[in-house]
Amino acid sequence: MAYKIEKASEIADNIFEFWIKAPHVSKNAQAGQFVVIRIDEKGERIPLTISAAKDDLIRIVFMAVGKTTKFLSSLKEGESVLDVAGPLGQPGELKKWGNCVLIGGGVGIACLPILAKALKEQGNQVTGIIGARNENLLLLSDELEQDCDELVICTDDGSRGFHGFPADILKKKLEDEKIDCVWIIGPAIMMKITSMATIPSKTKTFVSLNPIMVDGTGMCGSCRVSVGGETKFACVDGPEFDAHLVDWDELMNRQRIYPSQEKESLDNFNE
Ligand code: FAD
Ligand code: FES
Repeated sequence: MAYKIEKASEIADNIFEFWIKAPHVSKNAQAGQFVVIRIDEKGERIPLTISAAKDDLIRIVFMAVGKTTKFLSSLKEGESVLDVAGPLGQPGELKKWGNCVLIGGGVGIACLPILAKALKEQGNQVTGIIGARNENLLLLSDELEQDCDELVICTDDGSRGFHGFPADILKKKLEDEKIDCVWIIGPAIMMKITSMATIPSKTKTFVSLNPIMVDGTGMCGSCRVSVGGETKFACVDGPEFDAHLVDWDELMNRQRIYPSQEKESLDNFNE
C-alpha cells in the first residue's frame, strides 16, 4: 500500500514538514507516539514522531541528516512512501498534572504541538519553551503560541527571543513557581543536561528517547536502553521515560555505533 504525501514544505533550514495520508494511524495516534516509515522496497525503516494528526492525515517533521531523511526530503507533494507503520510506542502520561512545562530543542520542537493540545484538554496549564541554535532553525512557533498558555523562545546565538538555553528559563521558573511536570524532547545531550535542573526539586520529568530503531515492535533489540537499572526497549516500553532514571551515557554510546556505515550510505546516495 502506498501512502501519499499531501503537503510537503521546508519549514526551517534543512527541516521538512510532510502531511501524509494514513487514516489508520491518524485515527489512533496519541501524543508521544511515532511511526516507522519505509520509502521503498530497498529502503531502511526510520522512526519519526507523530507531530500532529488531523482527519486522515498525520504530520511528520524531520531534519535531513543522512541517507534516508535526505531521500525523504527530496519527495514532492503527490508522491508516496511505501510503508507508514504505527502508531507505535506508548502514549505520554496524559492526565491532569497542574502546571506543565514542555521543552523542545531543535527538531524535537516538532513533538510539542500534539502534546500541548493533549495536556490542555486534560485541564493543565501549559508553558512551552523552545530552543534552537539560531532563528533559522526554530519551527512551529506560531502554532505553539496558540497551543500553549505561554511560549518562551530561546536561541543559542540570541538571534531571536532569549539569548541562551531552555534550561536557563526552566531553572528560573523552578525558583519562581511550583511546576508539577516537565517534558524535555530534543537531542540526547540536551535532554540529559536540561533534566538535571529538575533533580533537586524532584519534579517529575519525561524525556522521549531516540535510540536507533529498526523494527519498532520489540523484536530486534536495537533500541535497548537502561532505565532505573532495568533494560527497556524504547519502541514498545517508551519512547517516553522518567529522565532521572535514564542511563544517558549508554544511550549516547549506542546512538554512535554505525557512523562509518551511515557515512558510506550517504556518500553512495549523494553520488
Ligand atoms: P543516518 O546517517 O543513517 O543516521 C544519522 C543519525 O540518526 C545516526 O547517527 C543516529 O543517531 C540516527 N539514526 C540513524 N538511523 C536511525 C534509526 N533507524 N532509528 C533512530 N535513529 C537513527 N528525527 C527527526 O528529524 N524528526 C522526528 O520527529 C524524529 N522522531 C524520532 C522518534 C523516535 C522514537 C526515534 C527513535 C528517532 C526519531 N528521529 C526523528 C530520528 C530519526 O529517526 C533519524 O534522524 C533517522 O533515522 C536518520 O536516518 P538517516 O538514514 O537519514 O541518517
Ligand atoms: Fe527493534 Fe525496538 S526497534 S526492539
